[in-house]
Amino acid sequence: MRVLHPRLARFERGFSVSTLQRIEEPLFARLKLELWIKRDDLLHPVVSGNKWRKLKYSLNDALHQDARCIVSMGGAYSNFLHALAFACRELGLCSQGFVRGEMPARLSPTLLDLRGFGMALHFTPRDAYRELRLFNTAGGLPMLSAGDYWLPEGGSCLQALRGVGEIVREIAFGYDFFCCACGTGATLAGLIGETPPPQKVLGVAVLKNAGYLRGQVADWLRELGLKRDNWELLLDYHGGGFGKARTELLDFMHEFQRRHGVRLEPVYTGKLLFAVFDLARRGYFPAGSRIVVLHSGGLQGWREE
Ligand SMILES: Cc1ncc(COP(=O)(O)O)c(C=O)c1O
Repeated sequence: MRVLHPRLARFERGFSVSTLQRIEEPLFARLKLELWIKRDDLLHPVVSGNKWRKLKYSLNDALHQDARCIVSMGGAYSNFLHALAFACRELGLCSQGFVRGEMPARLSPTLLDLRGFGMALHFTPRDAYRELRLFNTAGGLPMLSAGDYWLPEGGSCLQALRGVGEIVREIAFGYDFFCCACGTGATLAGLIGETPPPQKVLGVAVLKNAGYLRGQVADWLRELGLKRDNWELLLDYHGGGFGKARTELLDFMHEFQRRHGVRLEPVYTGKLLFAVFDLARRGYFPAGSRIVVLHSGGLQGWREE
């Protein structure tokens, strides 16, 4: 287990502590449930949420290997590329991003930021982009040069799980459920890895037909030497598919922000909280349960263009 590289340790000193915020809601009080949000969105103005957790040990590994450039992939609104490009700039590393699809006539605010942070962008047709997903470990990627360090989509790899596990270790009280949004499932796997039964971890899939994630999460756990059945992946809260935002979701998010002062976005955290409220209403959580929800950031991807 490697110590933090001095450059990474210096960068981490600029981060805030992620607090736990109690959410008081009549629905939850009536059902004798406690709801808390782990505010990872407040960790850092740019490298916020699960992004820092997922990047920390990969960047550490890259720095220890004297890598020169981090190469990865993502969509035109990718929270991950956004955090990666900024972190690389701060750490004195160069960065390259394979971006899904043709170059748009007008760059998204995320892409403009990526350029501003110094990331070299390679717009990649969708078929070729799908092929890049096969390269989920370092090495083997044909276009890498010496000194390049490859990170798979979303930074989702075993080292990401280790960083995510630190979220759980920061929670000083017992809880019954830990809930998170799932894209690649690495955050879910990292939380499960640190959560022994009878506590349970719930993942809310934000993509349609995301049942395949169950196998992926189980594979990661197996690689950690763990066999756990205290988790569930919920497939019915994608709200029409990735990035789709129905009016009821937008209304819920706005009301949540008005009542609790916590901003959500519709791709990940909005769907997650919407699901947790719906599950409570349906009697999913036994009375007396304490529920912790991860605010995994992602607010940069939801900006006026
Ligand atoms: C804000 C936010 N929350 C949650 C997730 C899901 O994380 P994971 O890909 O580890 O499932 C992502 C990225 O995919 C994200 O950007």
